[in-house]
Amino acid sequence: MEEFSPKFITFEGGEGAGKSTQIRLLAKWLTGRGIEVVMTREPGGCPGAEQIRELLVKGDTDRWTSMSEALLMTAARSEHVERTIKPAIKRGCWVLCDRFFDSTIAYQGGARGLGIERMQELQHIALHGLKPDLTFILDLPVDVGLARAVGREALKEDREDRFERMNYAFHENIRDSYLKIAALEPQRCVVLEANKDITSLQNDLRAEVNHRFGGIQ
Ligand code: TMP
Repeated sequence: MEEFSPKFITFEGGEGAGKSTQIRLLAKWLTGRGIEVVMTREPGGCPGAEQIRELLVKGDTDRWTSMSEALLMTAARSEHVERTIKPAIKRGCWVLCDRFFDSTIAYQGGARGLGIERMQELQHIALHGLKPDLTFILDLPVDVGLARAVGREALKEDREDRFERMNYAFHENIRDSYLKIAALEPQRCVVLEANKDITSLQNDLRAEVNHRFGGIQ
């Protein structure tokens, strides 16, 4: 079987974009082709970062200042990178990560108003310049995504909906911010239309992975 060098791929988008379903399907496809895959998520992905997640995704929308929120997200990410992501890549695994630093840039930098460039700088400092090999931005209208996400959270007993409860303008800003990030880094970021059925979107993802990294089919 052909050897593929490890890749670090991140998945971004507003609420309800379908990231986790798409990651699972992509992981299955890659695994079936002899590639070892680690699926992980942010905030979280290692014990310390999962503890920080609890502080961030629950409770009042105004429980943190924007800067505290950005720093907590980034602290969780530093743990995650050192304890989960880098070791997995070192072992030769492909890492598929549900959200990464672009979430801080879009949510805290854009929607929370801390500034896209400022948050990019913070990520550069905290992660010593580490960047994903490829970032998918799943783009869909805010009302469609929110309706999906709210429906999903309503079924849970222990709701992680602190960000979903922010106002509509907040979510519009996130969408615009992701498109700005993609325009700033077109080599790394691929924007995909996510308002379509699961299989079509998965086919788009697979085609892009094949195109970028070659020979997976
Ligand atoms: P999830 O719903 O995708 O698990 O993510 C939890 C929430 O945290 C989601 O609403 C987006 C938000 N978030 C940020 O605001 N900044 C970040 O850096 C990350 C990773 C997530």
